Amino acid sequence: MLSKLPIGVWVGTAPGGLTAYVNEAFTQLLDLTDDVLVGSELPVLTNIYDAAGEPFAEEVLPWARVIATRAPTVVDGMVVRTANGDRRHLRASGSLLSGPDGEPAHVLVSLVDVSREVEAERERDTVSARLAVAVNHAPIVLWCTDEKGVITLSEGEALTSLGFAPGQLVGQSAFDLYSWHPTVCTLLRRALDGESLNASVDVGDVPMETYLCPLKDSRGRITGMMGLSRNVRELRALQAATLQSERAVSLGLLAASVAHEVNNPLTYMLGQALCLERQFSGIAEWCENLPIEVRAEIRDRLECITECFFPLREGIERIASITRELRTFSRSDHEEQTLVDCRAAVESALRLVGKELEARAVVSLQLGQTEPVLGNHGHVVQVVLNLVMNAMQSLPSDGAAGNFVGIRTETRDGKVLMEVSDSGPGVPVAERERIFDPFVTKKGVGEGTGLGLFVCRNIVRSYGGEVSVRDGEFGGAAFVVTLPVGQGSVRPSREPEPLDVGRLDHVPLILLIDDEPHVLTAARAMLHDEGYRVICSASGSEGLAVLRSRADIDLVFCDLMMSDLTGMDLHECLAREAPLKLASVVFMTGGAYVPEARQFEHDHPDLVVQKPFDIVREVNERLSSRRN
Ligand SMILES: Nc1ncnc2c1ncn2[C@@H]1O[C@H](COP(=O)(O)OP(=O)(O)O)[C@@H](O)[C@H]1O
Ligand SMILES: [Mg+2]
Repeated sequence: MLSKLPIGVWVGTAPGGLTAYVNEAFTQLLDLTDDVLVGSELPVLTNIYDAAGEPFAEEVLPWARVIATRAPTVVDGMVVRTANGDRRHLRASGSLLSGPDGEPAHVLVSLVDVSREVEAERERDTVSARLAVAVNHAPIVLWCTDEKGVITLSEGEALTSLGFAPGQLVGQSAFDLYSWHPTVCTLLRRALDGESLNASVDVGDVPMETYLCPLKDSRGRITGMMGLSRNVRELRALQAATLQSERAVSLGLLAASVAHEVNNPLTYMLGQALCLERQFSGIAEWCENLPIEVRAEIRDRLECITECFFPLREGIERIASITRELRTFSRSDHEEQTLVDCRAAVESALRLVGKELEARAVVSLQLGQTEPVLGNHGHVVQVVLNLVMNAMQSLPSDGAAGNFVGIRTETRDGKVLMEVSDSGPGVPVAERERIFDPFVTKKGVGEGTGLGLFVCRNIVRSYGGEVSVRDGEFGGAAFVVTLPVGQGSVRPSREPEPLDVGRLDHVPLILLIDDEPHVLTAARAMLHDEGYRVICSASGSEGLAVLRSRADIDLVFCDLMMSDLTGMDLHECLAREAPLKLASVVFMTGGAYVPEARQFEHDHPDLVVQKPFDIVREVNERLSSRRN
């Protein structure tokens, strides 16, 4: 029986060490080349090493230890290097066999091949080490409890965000630890009752997503539970930022399309109002020829009517200024964004309002180089303008002395920062969020729309940035814009082409192209009144046909967004067929909210006028500037 066992067995005399019995497995496991003969000593073993690769010392071999200690022994970590280069891991045990007189007579040594076990153990160690790296560096907590809720394992990098070190909680009751947090206790109880569950729980101010499941033994009895918790603060912040940016984009789009829709009726309302005003003043002049009694009566009534025009025009202009503000931040998802140099945007804004600013305050500029951000140059200029205008308006208007406005740009911590601060009254803490809401203004009617900061925040957020207000270095408010740095290099913006000027010495002929009939009616009436000749076309294609067939048109006002042939199409046709005629075309827009139209506005700022506008003034100005 012993000779057939896969266990190596050697029995030797004690203390002589002469072989009394040896089986085949023994010589095989030790990779001995010669048979061990009964009555002989074991050969010197030169091919046995310890786990560290050092030769195994003779005195720690089991038979030597049994003789020395007279106690049973188990020796692990014996590695046999076989002739063919394999490593075989052995576990050896030794025990003393006593003779009838009770004295040691023999030593029994057995050898078992544990290579598989050792290999499995090594693999387990590798997996554990890798898991430990993951657990200790990922924002998670891996924790287990026994069936009473006493923590048996608590590891993971996210423990630090909860104020604990790995392993620190082992031995404590999770129920005691979270007695202040009923939700956690309920979840623990449910997991210990056998439920596997996912839950989102805020532990203090740390948002955690947790998976809990019961641990069971081989008979299915619950022995505890395991929890895997993930700190999702950064994830939540990212989700919130994305949502905010999406909201800003759609809000911008909505505002721009509303502005566009409002501007068309506004154009003809303004047109008709101005036309009526002119008609009535004509009547007033004509009245001068009437008999005095009639004249007085009519004049009184005319004055009443004229008085009505002022609030009417003011109302229209107010609506127009609101829609103008709103459409500045229109941007669709499809619109191509470019890399914008924020410092250059600040410089553009200063070119527009610098003179006025210097008349109102001592200006301190710290314009550091900035990394480019992904966006739209015009929008960033708009943001800076709104902030600078607000700073200016917060200051007393009696001169620059004692008033300060600071503008700063820099790149810090991977973000572009723009700051506008002033020495005005500042913004009370309680109002710091509210002032970014639409229509919140402390300025008088006609002075403020309450949309400036709302527009700023929407533009900035749609770029994934943020704008906020705090106390500034000059004692007033400081508005700080941060924008994420974009990748790539800045594309220089194109210089607008100047309008070609010609000379006119006859009654000018004006062509109006718009598919909104009321706009045509109002504009035609007003221009007629001024003595101009007018032709109207109710569509882009009709207008193009007129332009192709006639050479005597002095000025063309063409709507940008029309259903059949747009202003952009007309521009393209003329550029190809008759570029000289292009010099006399002006495009009207009620706020371009489609990307092509915005691009067109951007590329041809001198060719585009924003509705509503006083067409008579516009025509007069354009024609007289040609004559000069
Ligand atoms: N630099 C500033 N200092 C003090 N208050 C400010 C400043 N900028 C903005 N505010 C406050 O925020 C309000 C909203 O500003 P805004 O949205 O630009 O609208 P508006 O300028 O048309 O009033 C202002 O009316 C003002 O009360
Ligand atoms: Mg403002």
